[in-house]
Amino acid sequence: MNSDNRFEAFQQYIDSEEKIEPKDWMPDEYRLHNIRQISQHAHSEVIGMQPEGNWITRAPSLRAKKILLAKIQDEGGHGLYLYSAAETLGITRDELIEQLHSGKAKYSSVFNYPTLNWADIGAIGWLVDGAAVTNQLSLRRTSYGPYSRAMMRICNEESFHQRQGYEIMAKMATGTPEQHAMAQSAIDRWWWPALMMFGPHDNDSPRTSNGLRWKIKRAGNDELRQRFIDKTVPQAEVIGLKIPDPRLRWNEETQHYEIGPINWDEFHRVVRGEGPCNSQRMAHHKHWHAEGAWVREAAAAYAARHNTNPVRV
Ligand code: 3HC
Repeated sequence: MNSDNRFEAFQQYIDSEEKIEPKDWMPDEYRLHNIRQISQHAHSEVIGMQPEGNWITRAPSLRAKKILLAKIQDEGGHGLYLYSAAETLGITRDELIEQLHSGKAKYSSVFNYPTLNWADIGAIGWLVDGAAVTNQLSLRRTSYGPYSRAMMRICNEESFHQRQGYEIMAKMATGTPEQHAMAQSAIDRWWWPALMMFGPHDNDSPRTSNGLRWKIKRAGNDELRQRFIDKTVPQAEVIGLKIPDPRLRWNEETQHYEIGPINWDEFHRVVRGEGPCNSQRMAHHKHWHAEGAWVREAAAAYAARHNTNPVRV
């Protein structure tokens, strides 16, 4: 089959809602697009453990500490599922980590902000995981099989993450005036970075057209952002928190909320590496990756001696 027919046959297969599996032929651009998106997704899961990890020892109760520990452990597992999915496309874990450390690969800008108090842990669960699960529910139908199956597993756990965050915010928002003020300050600082998680507007998004054509993405950035806004604004109202957007209004005709402009200069500044915590996050990851080298070496040595596949950590 000549290459034009192969591309045509590939697109017809995609359009028939079939899943592409690792051993299937695929255009290099499709492979590379998936490697970038899946690996950046994995990096986001792992780096995202840092801002929350800062609060394990300062959780306000044993119950809160257990929930936070479970959530952070989940995130690590999500990263491993996604790294494994990326590796089925012919890239090694070492290459993926090297791309993160060199800055060649990104992770979600939202994790470059500091967690100043316990309300931030609630805002991350409610808003950041809420945004992530809105995106990930759509990604369950992504065309690449290993990615789609990882999403099925991750979405179940992500929904728990969103609910535990909302529970923290609800308790604080309806607590003492000081607690309410902390919850309002947290939503003021995390609302817009959470909206930026969905990426640039579709007409400014260089990857969306191929992403949609190959059914890697099943909805555009703006549609997913709108789903998140429409779901989250009423949740804020129920617990008496104000969305930090003076231009927010409900449009009865479209049945959607309208928001003010997103600060894309801030978005690009943080994505470029100039956010409040970018260098701290990367230094931390590099340090502990180096500290953990002996575990990887021991696993590889064991695998070599017992002729098994090395356990990936
Ligand atoms: N932070 C950092 N980079 C971002 C970004 C953000 N908030 N939004 C977009 N970008 C990057 C894109 O990755 C892309 O980079 P690249 O060209 O170097 O690959 C570039 O900006 C242009 O953006 P596009 O919209 O054109 O790119 P995509 O079509 O890939 O859409 C996306 C961006 C919606 C993030 C898409 O990549 C996606 O759905 N990724 C999978 C989900 C994901 O990674 N979510 C991040 C958070 S996961 C998480 O938070 C875990 C949870 O447990 C909290």
